[in-house]
Parts: sequence; structure tokens; C-alpha cells
Amino acid sequence: YWRSLVVRDLRHLSAADDIAEQCFEHLRLATNEGRIRPVVSVFAPDRPGRPAPRILNQQLVRYAGHPAPGGGWTGDPAGAQLAARARDLGWKCGEEAFEVLPLLVQERAGARPEWYEVPDDAALEVRLTHPDHGWFAELGLRWYAVPAISDMTLEIGGVRYPTAPFNGWYMGTEIGARNLADADRYNLLAEVAGRLGLDTSSERTLWRDRTLVELNVAVLHSFQEAGVTMADHHTESERFLKHIAQEKRLGRPTPADWSWIVPPVSGGLTPVYHRYYDPVDPALRPAFLAREPW
Ligand code: ARG
Repeated sequence: YWRSLVVRDLRHLSAADDIAEQCFEHLRLATNEGRIRPVVSVFAPDRPGRPAPRILNQQLVRYAGHPAPGGGWTGDPAGAQLAARARDLGWKCGEEAFEVLPLLVQERAGARPEWYEVPDDAALEVRLTHPDHGWFAELGLRWYAVPAISDMTLEIGGVRYPTAPFNGWYMGTEIGARNLADADRYNLLAEVAGRLGLDTSSERTLWRDRTLVELNVAVLHSFQEAGVTMADHHTESERFLKHIAQEKRLGRPTPADWSWIVPPVSGGLTPVYHRYYDPVDPALRPAFLAREPW
């Protein structure tokens, strides 16, 4: 959705306080009361011998996780490393399963990162309910509205911007079929299957599959009810093929990785499953790249 992308030129900013303040403003602009807008905020670039400051979080909003006393996890295991780092810096982590992590900004290699609590009005969240099951709300599940990637380097015109957080809006399956379901994330399938009354004694009852569908129904339903933009995997798959066709008419290839394009539920029901894509050339620029360590 690059046509509607809002580009914020913040290349003059490199102080941790300014970066944090503008990241929160980024979230407010992107949230737009639920009508999510794609936004990228570009902060100071690396210079020869003087790397730019970095955000240590994977996303501007993400949940903390920590090993639970009796085994298992509280919160999101994907947020465990950052939560531990933030606690070392003096952040107090609550006991809830959905604690928004503070933003950690490091100005130089080896420097003590600054941490900033994300203001409530910058992190819109949606409580998850199910259209047919009243008890679903009692699970206390929620997710945030804006997926804003903050740990990748934007390389463009020979210049590297290690702090260039960007967002689109969510597709339901990212939350319903991965974040809440993956065994190394919230791992909720067994609990929800129990509440649905499914027979979990054999894989052949497909209790996992049935539960996964209900989780995804809940995610799409809840964002819709809350008035927060979210795509479903059927519509988005069709749009992506239209995008490829449009690019082709303009003489441009659309390199893509099949495993990132095909949704993690009902793959074969979507048209993106039934074909391959132009191979991704790692030398292509501009690009967002995995950030190297300092
Ligand atoms: N899959 C990641 C998550 O669940 C977000 C990646 C970016 N997604 C997006 N729709 N722009 O948090």
C-alpha cells in the first residue's frame, strides 16, 4: 500500500528522547482512531564511523513475556528478551498476559539504553470477543491495533537508516493463527479447545484446526466491532495477485517468498497458494534489511 504511505522525514533527529516522542506520535498518526494508515518515520542515518541510534524493540508495540513460576509462560515469549533487558534498566513489569513493553532506545554501541513507557493513547488495543461464544471474552485476550516493525534497517540511495519504524495494518491470521496459536507464542489452542468442548484425545478429531478457525473468527470479529482496520486472508490474497498483475503491466517483477505470502490457515483456499513467485534478489535496493548488531 505504498501509494497511501505517509513518509515522515525525521532524519534530523538522533537524541533518544526525540526518537521516543516521535515514535509515539507515529503510533497516533498510524492509529488514526482505528482507520489505520501506513506510516514510516525515518530518523538519522548511519554516518561513516558514527552509527545512528537504534530502537531495540522488534515492534513499537509488543507484549512482554516471562517464564511463569510453575512452568510455562506469562505473556508473549517473543517479548521475553526485551522484557528482561527493560527490567534490568529499572522497568517494572506487571503480571498480566498483555503488558505493553516500554520503548528502548540506544544511542551508541555499549551505551545504557533509555526506556520510555508507551503512553496509553499511543497504543490502541482491541479486546477479543467471539460472535457466537459469550465465554470467549472471559479469556481476557486482546491485541494491539498497529504492527510497526522497528528493528530493520532501511537501505536506500547508499544510505543506511537503522531507525525507520514502519507499519501497515494487520491481517487477522497473523494474530489468530500465529501470535495466539504458535507453540512458542501464546500457545492457546488447548485452552480454547477445552472451552469449545472439543475432543482433544486424538489429532484425528482436528480439534486444533477447528479451534484455530474459531480464534480467527474472534480476531476478525473483534477488530471489526472496534472499528480497527484489519484484512482477512481471502480478500488480501486476491488483492496481492491483482497487485502482481498491475506491476507486471508496468514492466516490474514482484519478488516474493511463497511461505510469507500463503496464509497460515486455509492456504489452499486462497489463490496465492496455487502458484510460485519471482525469486527474491537479496541485492535489490531500496530494501528493509535485518539489522546487523552494532
Ligand atoms: N506478523 C507480525 C505480528 O503479528 C507483524 C508483521 C507485519 N504485519 C503487517 N500486517 N504489516 O506482529
